[in-house]
Amino acid sequence: MQLPAPRGRLSQQVAHVLAGRAMEAPAVATLPRQDEDLLVNEDVQLALWMLFELHYRGFEDVDPDLEWDPLLIHSRSMLEANLEQTLRDLTADDVRRAASGTGDLPEQLTNLIDDLDGGPLASHLQRHATLAQFADFMRQRSIYHLKESDPQSFVLPRVDGPVKAALAELQYDEYGAGRPELLHASMFAEAMDAIGLDSTYGAHIDEAGALTLAVNNVMSMFALRRRLRGAALGHLAAFEATSSAPCRRIVSGVERLGLPEATRAYFDEHIEADAVHEQLAIRNICGVLVEGEPHLAEDVLFGAASCLKVDEIAGTALVDTWTRPSPQRLVGVNA
Ligand SMILES: [Fe+2]
Ligand SMILES: [Fe+2]
Repeated sequence: MQLPAPRGRLSQQVAHVLAGRAMEAPAVATLPRQDEDLLVNEDVQLALWMLFELHYRGFEDVDPDLEWDPLLIHSRSMLEANLEQTLRDLTADDVRRAASGTGDLPEQLTNLIDDLDGGPLASHLQRHATLAQFADFMRQRSIYHLKESDPQSFVLPRVDGPVKAALAELQYDEYGAGRPELLHASMFAEAMDAIGLDSTYGAHIDEAGALTLAVNNVMSMFALRRRLRGAALGHLAAFEATSSAPCRRIVSGVERLGLPEATRAYFDEHIEADAVHEQLAIRNICGVLVEGEPHLAEDVLFGAASCLKVDEIAGTALVDTWTRPSPQRLVGVNA
């Protein structure tokens, strides 16, 4: 993919370094340590997203060795510290409440997931979304789903024994159980193709809003930092546990809009698969992880709460852009 169009000073500096037009480190040190608006800051989220993307497919005409460039790693670490602090602040009350609840970690995790509202996105897609809005949703989601489950693969070498086996089992499903056409990322690409959207990896990055980028950055940060492996797996559990029911709603939206079978197939697959993945992730992955490493319990809850909060904020903002048009665009949409 090509480098995205910069959206401010920081993403411009990162793009310049990546393109080989500048040598100095991006000016991250001048950013505030805590920023309430960090999640909706397009410039910061895009800069961080570009730095993370070096660990996935990278960019055309960008030196692949920049993945481990010390200056860029340093800048990324500082941006990550800001993001982590923002997430800790955002989720502190939910994590405290869940951790002080009764039961073992799987029960606490289940209660936390049940307590947090998923937001209006799935029901809007089910009942009200126009075809243009559904297409917007698919373009925003493509930033993650065209590399679906890749972040979590970085966690595999950071865990061992039954946790590794259970995570590998879940990932095997996500990666098509040996059949390339059933890779969930490939199924999402087919779902896009069927409604005339470009499914090329990274095709919609310039339309991705700050919150879409933040959703992706949170996953990458948790997965790429061994210290945060508990948060990565808590995030995975919350993601899987809040997928099956929304996918059922989205399937009914797909039917209402009369969209092709290939578009339906992606969401149909997740109604069944994620009901299984939910139990696998909560019990066999997070539950067993915390039995072996009890000090990770709070981070598992932190990761789950971060997933739910950021997804809810992003989904609500997307619906808001459709239903309450405002001059300030929180997410990139072409309604
Ligand atoms: Fe999936
Ligand atoms: Fe899944």
